[in-house]
Amino acid sequence: MTKNVLVLPGDGIGPEIVTEAVKVLGTLNLDIEIDSALVGGSAVDATGNPLPEETLNKARSADAILLGAVGGPKWDGNPMESRPEKGLLGLRSELELFANFRPAILYPQLAEASTLKPEVVSGLDILIVRELTGGIYFGQPRGIRTLENGEREGYNTYVYSESEIRRIGRQAFEAAQKRGKRLCSVDKSNVLEVTVLWKEVMEELAKEYPDVELSHMLVDNAAMQLVRAPKQFDVVVTGNMFGDILSDAAAMLTGSIGMLPSASLDKDGKGMYEPCHGSAPDIAGQGKANPLATILSVAMMLRYSLDESAAADRIEAAVQKVLDQGLRTGDIMSEGCTLVSTEEMGDAVVAAL
Ligand code: NAD
Ligand code: IPM
Ligand code: MN
Repeated sequence: MTKNVLVLPGDGIGPEIVTEAVKVLGTLNLDIEIDSALVGGSAVDATGNPLPEETLNKARSADAILLGAVGGPKWDGNPMESRPEKGLLGLRSELELFANFRPAILYPQLAEASTLKPEVVSGLDILIVRELTGGIYFGQPRGIRTLENGEREGYNTYVYSESEIRRIGRQAFEAAQKRGKRLCSVDKSNVLEVTVLWKEVMEELAKEYPDVELSHMLVDNAAMQLVRAPKQFDVVVTGNMFGDILSDAAAMLTGSIGMLPSASLDKDGKGMYEPCHGSAPDIAGQGKANPLATILSVAMMLRYSLDESAAADRIEAAVQKVLDQGLRTGDIMSEGCTLVSTEEMGDAVVAAL
């Protein structure tokens, strides 16, 4: 049966990297129909809404979604409701994509591209499981209000229910069962009650997964340990904001944020796939962006939502091959390698397939 993939290029480098990823997907000759729609700043410009109704409807009926990136300085002054980022957050929340998987893998060819010493990062393979539809990103009340003395005050609410913690916890335990069977839950339980509850629920769940070794770490220490000795981690589970921050730090262990793919899944495994990086306004439109995170996100999409794991393996092998050939975009460039553009990198992956 034909599968439907909705492509949401977005803003900045989004369209450039998505073009390469769609080219790679097209080369596989699978029974897949591709549609596209507006989200983020481009949708604000065209319709006034970062997540137009039409895009949401298409997203609901698609078998999987591929998103580039949203946002940029053009819209930074917009009120919160008409910021590009609201489009992305709206998709995550409307589609209940609560489980965000961000695998940080160091390809051996890129040991030199990491800013960390090769012995610290070589063989790195960790998985960050980030809660994506709750926490301080979505908690109510929120806003900016004026106090009696005339001063303004900004506020957000950091809240998680037991059921929200339990469902992301289960995803993380199950992921750990399929890997190294070690799960580190990251919290700030020395200060924040919401994460005291988080830690308690993780402990309860651990009884159901006796084969997984659960540990806990405070988030400040986790940030430090990620750059000190990242290979101590197997699977990390954490809330929305901590996961956002820690995954950018983990990205740098792999050489560049341009290498980190992600999958955001609902309870039935339906998902949206996107690189972890943003719209990179500083390099947009210059053919400099690394498309590999997006291409690797396509591999995750084939594996998790489209039941095409052989095709996913082929894409990952093709990425390894272009790295073996010494082809590098600027962000992963090192001595003796060949600097290529976004498009040349996409073409090389297609050729390797
Ligand atoms: P960013 O990830 O866009 O860029 C950070 C740095 O990494 C920049 O120097 C950029 O050039 C570089 N970079 C990112 N992706 C790259 C790639 N594929 N190849 C080479 N270099 C790459 O983060 P930022 O600058 O903080 O944010 C810019 C905009 O993107 C903001 O509007 C932000 O809200 C948005 N954003 C969107 C997403 C998303 O759509 N998922 C994620 C993060 C940030
Ligand atoms: C990410 C991004 C988003 C987030 C922004 C753009 C809303 O940084 O996907 O990591 O904070 O989740
Ligand atoms: Mn982020």
